[in-house]
Amino acid sequence: MQQTPCTIVKKERLIPGQTSKLVISCPHIAKKAQPGNFVILRVSAQGERIPLTIADADPEAGTITMVYLVMGKSTAHLETLEEGDALHDLCGPLGQATHIEQVGTVICVGGGTGIAAMHHIAKGHQRAGNHTVAIIGARSKNLLLFEHELKSFCDEVLIATDDGSYGHKGFVTQVLEERLKTDKTVKEVVAIGPVPMMEAVSKTTKPFGVKTTVSLNSIMVDGIGMCGACRVSVGGQVKFACVDGPEFDGHQVDFGELRQRLAAFKPQEALSFEAFKERHGK
Ligand SMILES: Cc1cc2nc3c(=O)[nH]c(=O)nc-3n(C[C@H](O)[C@H](O)[C@H](O)COP(=O)(O)OP(=O)(O)OC[C@H]3O[C@@H](n4cnc5c(N)ncnc54)[C@H](O)[C@@H]3O)c2cc1C
Ligand code: FES
Repeated sequence: MQQTPCTIVKKERLIPGQTSKLVISCPHIAKKAQPGNFVILRVSAQGERIPLTIADADPEAGTITMVYLVMGKSTAHLETLEEGDALHDLCGPLGQATHIEQVGTVICVGGGTGIAAMHHIAKGHQRAGNHTVAIIGARSKNLLLFEHELKSFCDEVLIATDDGSYGHKGFVTQVLEERLKTDKTVKEVVAIGPVPMMEAVSKTTKPFGVKTTVSLNSIMVDGIGMCGACRVSVGGQVKFACVDGPEFDGHQVDFGELRQRLAAFKPQEALSFEAFKERHGK
């Protein structure tokens, strides 16, 4: 694990004002990053620690890619940085790597910003020789990420939009359920996206008895197992998402508790974001 100042070599505004992609120069992390790993970065010395999944890594170029949604104060601060700027520090790779083996057909379900996080894992399954199917969903066509990147290596890419502006009209879970009904070769489902989506995916796969892995965006502070902030309940046991996860068996996760914990600091987060916007004249 390395903690170093790192420069932004490329920044792309994927959805202006909402979602951006950063390619960061950090050779030590790029060399070790595995699918499923995440990093924790700070924009300034006084800044909050922001956990972000490694969406891609290029060990030769010495870079990693992250995609983030501007949610509140810290991600809005990150959004002010441009190419050539340095992050204050970047810590990683963190978390357990995704368990990947050749099993047959694997479906990778991604929702919203989670599609980018799922990208690295889908790549890993493809490289392991699995028939890799990506099912990706967003509210509308203009919010869909990484379609072309996924099409460049996945065997199949199926699309759903809530408003029907592209692909299937409805949720990724409907596309998933149809596939599970007709395809008995599916051995594993991986889901990354909003907590309600991961919960719905887990409910969908349960009756089919298909192994289901979800990546939990629990609240994190240190990311190394010391602070206890990322506590989650899985199969009745307390786990720490940063060191035991972030991936867990979706059929065992207590999603109700996770939702409650994620909402715990909403009033403070809203105040902090308002103060940031005032300071930056937004
Ligand atoms: C392992 C992990 C991987 C993640 N990967 C990505 C990613 O690839 N792309 C992406 O856009 N987001 C990702 N997130 C979520 C991202 O860290 C939060 O959106 C970010 O910290 C929000 O900070 P903020 O100050 O802008 O918003 P805030 O106003 O602080 O928060 C808005 C909401 O974000 C969530 N949140 C806030 N702080 C944290 C925190 N420290 N840890 C987790 N969730 C938090 C809470 O649900 C909160 O209600 C990941 C989180 C974790 C734990
Ligand atoms: S983030 Fe501190 S224990 Fe996991």
